[in-house]
Amino acid sequence: MSAPSMTLFHNPASPYVRKVMVLLHETGQLDRVTLQHSQLSPVSPVSPDAALNQDNPLGKIPALRLADGNVLYDSRVILDYLDQQHVGNPLIPREGSARWRRLTLAALADGIMDASVTIRYELALRAPDKHWDQWLDAQRDKIRRALAVLEADAIAELTSHFDIAAISVACALGYLDLRHPDLNWRDAHPQLSAWYAHVSQRPSMLATVPKV
Ligand code: BEZ
Repeated sequence: MSAPSMTLFHNPASPYVRKVMVLLHETGQLDRVTLQHSQLSPVSPVSPDAALNQDNPLGKIPALRLADGNVLYDSRVILDYLDQQHVGNPLIPREGSARWRRLTLAALADGIMDASVTIRYELALRAPDKHWDQWLDAQRDKIRRALAVLEADAIAELTSHFDIAAISVACALGYLDLRHPDLNWRDAHPQLSAWYAHVSQRPSMLATVPKV
């Protein structure tokens, strides 16, 4: 085993970081990366992480420092890079309609993460009497609409490959369980729920269960 050559700015609760970790597991590249823990989270968005800011001026995780010192961000760029660094089947189709469809499903999952993390910021940081309920509801509606599309249109595609689309959806659902169990997303999405029950037993998912 060679020494790790890359550094991943990491927080085990972040669904965006989890996507990267799952891909590293699935593609056998875990030993290429050293994890650098970042305190950055929705409970500390205004406490800058100086080391992270030096590498990513946006102060966002994940960021991946390569052996040559170059830094990649955001998670989509990191996933694309890492997927081109292994010899197995690509987890992001390189071309054709499959590429655009799988990336679109992954973007839908990222949108669920974005809305979920945004809600987390509002609820964790602002006093209850300052919560903007209409805006919170609008974020929840985004999540509901995205889940409805996955349930209606994407189960067969998610089942066919554990690739960029499936990894992203699985990490989004894992984050809903972590931070928004009150949404009870399984109730209206039985097929997605069954699919998730299955994929969450993969070693890559079990090894990256979010920790808080
Ligand atoms: C969280 O604790 O919910 C979290 C931490 C880091 C990034 C995003 C979310």
